[in-house]
Amino acid sequence: MISNFISSSENETIQIGKDFSSQLISGDIVELIGDLGTGKTHFVKGVSLGIGVKKSAISPTFTIVNEYNGGRIPIYHIDCYRLLNSKELLEIGIEDYFFGEGVCVIEWGNKIEEFLPLRRYQCEFKYGEKVNERIIEITKLEKI
Ligand SMILES: Nc1ncnc2c1ncn2[C@@H]1O[C@H](COP(=O)(O)OP(=O)(O)OP(=O)(O)O)[C@@H](O)[C@H]1O
Ligand SMILES: [Mg+2]
Repeated sequence: MISNFISSSENETIQIGKDFSSQLISGDIVELIGDLGTGKTHFVKGVSLGIGVKKSAISPTFTIVNEYNGGRIPIYHIDCYRLLNSKELLEIGIEDYFFGEGVCVIEWGNKIEEFLPLRRYQCEFKYGEKVNERIIEITKLEKI
């Protein structure tokens, strides 16, 4: 199943994330792929708002994982941009997040693709033709 969206502002990307979040359940994995500045963190902001988290999502660039509680499910916001190797990933206990109660939303998830469960949402972010345009393609990957 593939869904395509065109966003023409930050707020539209937040809304797309918010709408998408309504289908998320405990244990879901959401992989975000796309160049710098294509809107991944804004999308996560929408997901966390949709889940009912009060504190808004910030980029976890320095911490790798930010946990947001207070919504209908916990959110583990993971950013792999600065991740140097997979050893670092195992050190932060990535499996505990994958198999935890919450939803994992993973920026730059393509850097850790070999560790990701097959059953997941894959969201691809691209620049559109106009300045503030972003293309978001969401695919649900499942075992066949
Ligand atoms: N339609 C849009 N959706 C989202 N952000 C937009 C849009 N148009 C312009 N922007 C701008 O693009 C940037 C997107 O930033 P954001 O941090 O969400 O990207 P990112 O994909 O998370 O980048 P990074 O890979 O560095 O984490 C912001 O500066 C935002 O203002
Ligand atoms: Mg980001």
